[in-house]
Amino acid sequence: MITDERCSVFIESLSPGMTPFLEELEGKAQESGIPIIRPASRSLLRYLLAENEPESLLEIGTAVGFSAIFMASCSFADIHIDTIENYEKHIKAARANIKAAHMEDRIRLLEGDAEAVLADLADRSAVYDMIFVDAAKAQYPDYLPLCKKLLRRGGVLVSDNVLFDGDIVQSRYAVRRRDRTIHSRMRQYLRLISEDQGLVTTILPIADGMALSVKKE
Ligand SMILES: C[S@@+](CC[C@H](N)C(=O)[O-])C[C@H]1O[C@@H](n2cnc3c(N)ncnc32)[C@H](O)[C@@H]1O
Repeated sequence: MITDERCSVFIESLSPGMTPFLEELEGKAQESGIPIIRPASRSLLRYLLAENEPESLLEIGTAVGFSAIFMASCSFADIHIDTIENYEKHIKAARANIKAAHMEDRIRLLEGDAEAVLADLADRSAVYDMIFVDAAKAQYPDYLPLCKKLLRRGGVLVSDNVLFDGDIVQSRYAVRRRDRTIHSRMRQYLRLISEDQGLVTTILPIADGMALSVKKE
């Protein structure tokens, strides 16, 4: 957590809460150690869905379907979500959860490695109003050119976990050796989205760090 813990707990206490189905799914994911979006990220996504009313959304990193179901259930538009996952165990669980949430007509699970699926979508000229990136952190720079292609002008690219729980500001040698690749790749990603002339980006120190980029060209 980057922000003061008491402050985060206070802000969380003001959030409107979730459906019993999502509460249960959150509990199960936490018990199994499956990382899902944190309350502050949920709140921001909910706000963005209300502000932008996207009708098409692409998510990279489904896990067990929690964030996709959350976004579909709090969307203010008739949204369709495509969500990408490559881990067989998560795919199976996500399919079951999407079915149990009666969201099969709104959420399509695309199986496979994100980069390959993104390239395939781009080949088919798919376009989305909003893209939510929440997969392998070290791969974010690789996803970027394809995300830009798949995002409509004026669309929003939302990237989660970009501040690495605050460790992004540490020198490379201060982070654990096994985290160094992610650390440098995430720094590279933040530079790319911040310096890209076609994007207007803001980086928010909430949850694990979230970046919002609007496509301007
Ligand atoms: C942080 S979890 C996603 C959590 C989910 N968005 C939520 O909040 O409910 C990241 C997911 O991305 C998946 N993932 C990682 N690398 C991937 C890749 N190259 N292609 C597709 N999925 C990938 C992982 O298997 C994992 O399920």
